[in-house]
Formats: sequence, C-alpha cells, structure tokens
Amino acid sequence: MSEVTHQQIAAFAADRINLPHADAVKHRSQVNGLRDRLASKIAADPGYGLIKSLHAGSVAKSTALKSVNDLDLAVYVKSAEAPADDAELVPWLADRLFEATTNMDRAQFEEQTHCVTVHYRSSGLDVDVVPVLYEGEPNDVGYLIKKRTGDRLKTSTRLHLDFIGSRRKTYGLEFLELIRLTKWWKRQIVVRVDPDFKFKSFMIELIWAHLADSGVSLSDYPKALEAFFEWIVRTGLEERVTFTDYTPASTFPARGSAPIEILDPVNPENNVAIRYDNAGRDKILDAAASAYDALTDARFATTKGRAVDDWQELLGPTFKG
Ligand SMILES: Nc1ncnc2c1ncn2[C@@H]1O[C@H](COP(=O)(O)OP(=O)(O)OP(=O)(O)O)[C@@H](O)[C@H]1O
Ligand SMILES: [Mg+2]
Repeated sequence: MSEVTHQQIAAFAADRINLPHADAVKHRSQVNGLRDRLASKIAADPGYGLIKSLHAGSVAKSTALKSVNDLDLAVYVKSAEAPADDAELVPWLADRLFEATTNMDRAQFEEQTHCVTVHYRSSGLDVDVVPVLYEGEPNDVGYLIKKRTGDRLKTSTRLHLDFIGSRRKTYGLEFLELIRLTKWWKRQIVVRVDPDFKFKSFMIELIWAHLADSGVSLSDYPKALEAFFEWIVRTGLEERVTFTDYTPASTFPARGSAPIEILDPVNPENNVAIRYDNAGRDKILDAAASAYDALTDARFATTKGRAVDDWQELLGPTFKG
C-alpha cells in the first residue's frame, strides 16, 4: 500500500494546481468581450481585414494552471488585405484591434515580434493576439508566422481544440488533470531549479494523448505519472509521436534529424518540438529520470515522510500528503 494515494494527489491538484472554475469563467468572458467587439466590427465593416477570432490557449482547453498568466486569441486575417511585409503586420493588427474597441488607449495594444499583447487595466489578464493568415481553407486551417524565422506554419487551432476535446471525451477529466499535473511539475523545475528549462505545454498534451491512445490507464494518478516519465526515459524521446485524426499515416514525412519529433495532428510536416536541440532534449530526459526515480521510491516507501519527500520533488514543498 503506497503512502501517498491517488486521492491525495487529486486533492492537491484541486486545491493548488487547477484554475478555479469561477476564474476560468471570468477569463473566458474577458476574451469573449474582445471577441464580441471584433465580431461587431467585422459585421459592420466589410473592408476591415479581420475575419474571425478564436480563443485558443490553455484556458480554452481547460488545461490551464491557477498561475496562468496570459490568454490566447487567434485572429484570422484576410491574407489579401494584410501587409505582405511581416514587420508591418503586427503594428497593422494592433491598429485594427484598437479600432474595434472602445475606452482603451492605443498604448494598451503592445506590439511584440509576432503577436499583439492587449493589456487590461482592471483585474483581467493580458490577452496575446496571434495573427493567422487565412485564405479560405476549411476547418479554420490557416498560417501562423513562426517565431525567429518568420516562416509560415500551416495549422488549425480550431482542430487542436477539437483534438484535446475528443481525448477528454474518450478518457475523461483525468486526461486534463494529468496534463495539469505535468505542467505543474515542469513549472516547479522552472521556478525552483532551472529558469531555462523548456517543455512546451502543447508537447506535454500531445504526449499524454499518445500514451492514452496506446492504452496507458489514467485512472490512478501516481501510476499514470510513473508511466509518463517511464516512457520518456525508455524512449529517450526518440520515438516519434504521431496521430491519424486528421491525416493518414501515408502523409507522414520520413523521420528527420530533429532530436524530438512530435507531429502536429493537423499538419504532419509541422514538428511541434522543432525548437528542441540535443541539450534541450537531454534536460527533459534528466528531469524525467529524477521524477521517475522519486515516484518508484515513493511507491516502495514504508513511511509517509519518505513518500511525501519523494512527491515534493515533483510537486514542490507545498505538497504535504
Ligand atoms: N508549434 C506549434 N504548432 C502548431 N500549433 C501550435 C504550436 N505551438 C502552439 N500551438 C497552438 O497554440 C496553442 C497554445 O499552446 P501553448 O503550448 O503555446 O500554450 P497553452 O496550451 O496556452 O499553455 P500555457 O499557456 O498554459 O503554457 C496550442 O493549443 C496550439 O493550438
Ligand atoms: Mg497559453
């Protein structure tokens, strides 16, 4: 009998990790306020240049942590009407957003390299508005602009929401909770050990989808987390992660040279892990190995103190068992 149980992990998540429902509702309504303004402007002005918007990030997917610090909005831009020069696109978008809103200063629309951050004066969080160049393709497939290179990246944030939603339907709320627990573990490392540690939320989500699809049971959190870290250690993240929800396996390109390949379910040419080099992968492997060791030690621990110490390695010192 393990000294730390599924119920204790579930209780900790409910208490410390999860974004309370009321906050999620508040955040969603903040994003929807901006979406409504854009929708009115789009309806009133055919030459406006924006087509629609989509709440895209973790708050929309129910994978956000309590510590969430931004909201994500994808705004579909008419390719033909947007400036062709990337350097002009973001300022252009900031002007369009400002135009659609009332009671806001232009200074609240901050131009970043590839998005516009909308700052709210009241309690609300910032909203990161990412432009999607749209040419009329079905399923909201459009083109994001890649950070650093400025290359076009074909994908659909709408289908990503559907993808996560379908796994949540099949595997239950445990699927979302395990994603949040894993994001929390990652955050503990960033906050307490290594500010440069990287493990992208979308990668964590896709790995959990892959494990659930492969038959890993999600019903017991300690066992499922052990399976997650065991998989990373065993494969060295060299095993490619793919999905056939939207494209058949025949469309997958040959395994390339990137250390990690986690293919976008919408566009298999897009490796979601493309920015991870060997050093970045090795950091994830090391962290996963430590977590796996702690969890196996916790499983065999004969005192609660020992088991709690082990779990604190993953969940931080506020976990008391
Ligand atoms: N490399 C990528 N390729 C295609 N789409 C991506 C990529 N990265 C992010 N996205 C899109 O952006 C969305 C947000 O993902 P991201 O990992 O940036 O953060 P998040 O889910 O909002 O989590 P959090 O902000 O809590 O870390 C994803 O659901 C996906 O639709
Ligand atoms: Mg986000």
